[in-house]
Amino acid sequence: MPNTYNPVTPELVTLLMDIAGKGNVFTDAEKLEAYSHDETDASVYGHNPEAVVLPQTTEQVARIVSLANQEKIPITPRGAGSGLSGGAIPEYGGIVISLEKMNRLLELDKANMVAVVEAGMVTNDLANAVQAEGLFFAGYPMSLQTCVIGGNIAENAGGGKAVKYGVTGRYIIGLELVTPQGEIVQLGGKLVKDVTGYDLKSLVIGSEGTLGIVTKAIVKLIGYPSSKGDLLVLFKTPKDAIDLVPVILSKGLTPTSIEFMDQLSIITSCAYLNESLPYENAGAMLLIEMDGGGASQLETELIEIGKLCEANGAIEVYVAEDRNNIERIWNVRRNIAEAFKVFSPAQSLEDIVVPSSRIPEMIPELERLGKKYQIRIPCYGHAGDGNLHATLVKDPAMPLDVWKRNEDLCLKELYQITGKFGGKISGEHGIGIKRRDYLKELIDPVELGLMRAIKNAWDPNNIMNPGKIFL
Ligand code: LAC
Ligand code: ZN
Repeated sequence: MPNTYNPVTPELVTLLMDIAGKGNVFTDAEKLEAYSHDETDASVYGHNPEAVVLPQTTEQVARIVSLANQEKIPITPRGAGSGLSGGAIPEYGGIVISLEKMNRLLELDKANMVAVVEAGMVTNDLANAVQAEGLFFAGYPMSLQTCVIGGNIAENAGGGKAVKYGVTGRYIIGLELVTPQGEIVQLGGKLVKDVTGYDLKSLVIGSEGTLGIVTKAIVKLIGYPSSKGDLLVLFKTPKDAIDLVPVILSKGLTPTSIEFMDQLSIITSCAYLNESLPYENAGAMLLIEMDGGGASQLETELIEIGKLCEANGAIEVYVAEDRNNIERIWNVRRNIAEAFKVFSPAQSLEDIVVPSSRIPEMIPELERLGKKYQIRIPCYGHAGDGNLHATLVKDPAMPLDVWKRNEDLCLKELYQITGKFGGKISGEHGIGIKRRDYLKELIDPVELGLMRAIKNAWDPNNIMNPGKIFL
């Protein structure tokens, strides 16, 4: 899409300063750089904004957006910048609105079991604040410690607990949104039921910041589970590990998490963390966590799962007795994406999702694609909900042009296979810039047409996070 937007002029910068305060508007190149990328490869996707504004109130956000809409200047909303599809990258320049100063817990309403938070609140801060009151925010993105709730809402983040608790959207029952025209609207509320017209709140959740800027959220909380237990299960091959997932789920057992790591993922993350696990030589691992109300029932279920594993190809089953040890293993799991990024910046972190009964079929396909395109494809992820982070990693010896061509062909084939298994190309990271060209080829044109119609109706000037999901 050609850049037909107007530039951010010095006069406009003065107006932004009047709205948000002089110290909360940046235009110097050094500071802009920090807002030019997310966790995708900056050399491929990065782009500087012309100005960054750090508003402190919803009214300020609304005034900035209204001004940008009048002047036809693109706006890119930004949370923590921990996204993995380019959603917070200002591809057309313009203004980045960073919610980093709107980070307060506004209300903890225990009577209704909800928290009201500003969109820039760090998800982990929310989780800790409510845990101190015996409550649980069950959304759990892997970047929990850095990501913010507004970004989780924009992407409808998933993470490691979705197999039991579902994804972010399940817990967002109300939103405050600044529309692309700069109006402020409240969607949903502290309600369990609400069919009062279209469910616009759910449309905004996962819309990648293209329909407005979420400034506040009403978050549903549940009771903090009183007991928790983990199993670490080792396998000879990734296929053996993955084959077990539908076996566990079809027995009616619902772990909080069934996380999968293949050998290269374990070794890479351990090396990055300078960690050493005695199990590094296993071909693959499942990390299975259960939580719930009663310690004895939990133990019975963990034993049952352990037996299923032993009867179905596991080489070793460890019941984690010691929280410290289990935290070390979780830390290895949480850091795999970062470890691969450091290991090889030329890579493609994928986010395919298939119905859980089909994931055993994915592993042989990944192996086949790896051989065909001479690309190593380590794999890890949220096996329990069918969401696998196969990662295409460039061999240092492969020339860059060959890598680019093979990466593209390999992704196309991977996405086609995923679709054939009833899956989709992104389970939790979103389309953003990274997958929009592929989405166009794969999505039903009727569905794409409906998405475009919604975008045009909400944002006729196309100023709100343009270029994300589709052009
Ligand atoms: C994870 C991120 C990459 O699961 O989604 O580690
Ligand atoms: Zn993930």
